[in-house]
Amino acid sequence: MWIQIKDKGTGMSEEIISQIFDFSFTAKAIGKGTGTGLSISSHIVEETQGGSLTGSSVLREETEFTIALHLE
Ligand SMILES: Nc1ncnc2c1ncn2[C@@H]1O[C@H](COP(=O)(O)OP(=O)(O)O)[C@@H](O)[C@H]1O
Ligand SMILES: [Mg+2]
Repeated sequence: MWIQIKDKGTGMSEEIISQIFDFSFTAKAIGKGTGTGLSISSHIVEETQGGSLTGSSVLREETEFTIALHLE
């Protein structure tokens, strides 16, 4: 089963998207981001569910996240 979430937002550069699942990585201004959201999300999906969380993006256009789960 796949769950896909897509937005028409700021998108991300290659440099940013390559780091988004790193714990405490944030591209937001100081005091605005914690850098924990995607790191914890990927941990939950991968370590507790055995699934995968991936992201793709077009800078200044869109971002899409896919959660893939193996259901019995
Ligand atoms: N939907 C999105 N569109 C564009 N950039 C995003 C999106 N979601 C996450 N990001 C980028 O990934 C980074 C890490 O996200 P996250 O782990 O949630 O930490 P935080 O939101 O605290 O910065 C954000 O700082 C942002 O640069
Ligand atoms: Mg966040």
